[in-house]
Amino acid sequence: MQEKRKANDDEKVVAEIMQRCFVPTLITTTCWEGFHFVGHEIRITEAMDCYGAVVWPSALVLCYFLETNVKQYNMVDKNVIEIGAGTGLVSIVASLLGAHVTATDLPELLGNLQYNLSRNTKMKCKHLPQVKELSWGVALDKNFPRSSNSFDYILAADVVYAHPFLEELLLTFEHLCRETTVILWVMKFRLEKENRFVDRFQELFDLEEISSFPSLNIKLFKATKKNRRNA
Ligand SMILES: C[S@@+](CC[C@H](N)C(=O)[O-])C[C@H]1O[C@@H](n2cnc3c(N)ncnc32)[C@H](O)[C@@H]1O
Repeated sequence: MQEKRKANDDEKVVAEIMQRCFVPTLITTTCWEGFHFVGHEIRITEAMDCYGAVVWPSALVLCYFLETNVKQYNMVDKNVIEIGAGTGLVSIVASLLGAHVTATDLPELLGNLQYNLSRNTKMKCKHLPQVKELSWGVALDKNFPRSSNSFDYILAADVVYAHPFLEELLLTFEHLCRETTVILWVMKFRLEKENRFVDRFQELFDLEEISSFPSLNIKLFKATKKNRRNA
């Protein structure tokens, strides 16, 4: 009975999340996808050439969560970093919710990321989001010195999949996370090997599953540094 109720909830919420997407009614020269979040129409330019060039379902789950949990996770004036931001939808939604956002990804993604962020946040946000290169595990001390990092939130959607940088990803979470930082991370479960990342992650962070969407094989986690002193 409880299982059936859970499945119905999953279907209902996933349908609600998916309704936030729309496609252009006219054929245009650039390929874009539309989304409705925080009372705004958001247009995202996509490409088909790499993982970061399309919006993944995990990003929709995180945007929906941020929009529908503003009381508990208030973004206004918060210092937020997104890792593996891709096309930038999550960073745009966090910006529309009032956060100071730094959207990061690999160098080759930054042009399109900047374009999407500018197009969807100019004149609409309290703080304009910044775009910065962050290749996981690379030059972290130089580009994000621990002494000046003070992120309230680290956001991450679908950053764990079959890529060879899982240890570097873990190192990056560890480097950016202060004692008071909250990580909101949406994970799509695919292969057993990469799913084991969750166990590695739990060696460093206290992990709480906030929601689960079995029909998408997606879970949303909240994490904080283990053994925090002053949270
Ligand atoms: C599956 S996509 C998810 C994109 C976006 N978060 C979303 O959910 O739509 C994974 C993202 O991680 C980024 N990425 C992969 N390897 C990376 C690395 N070594 N350093 C930094 N970013 C990386 C990709 O460029 C891509 O934007």
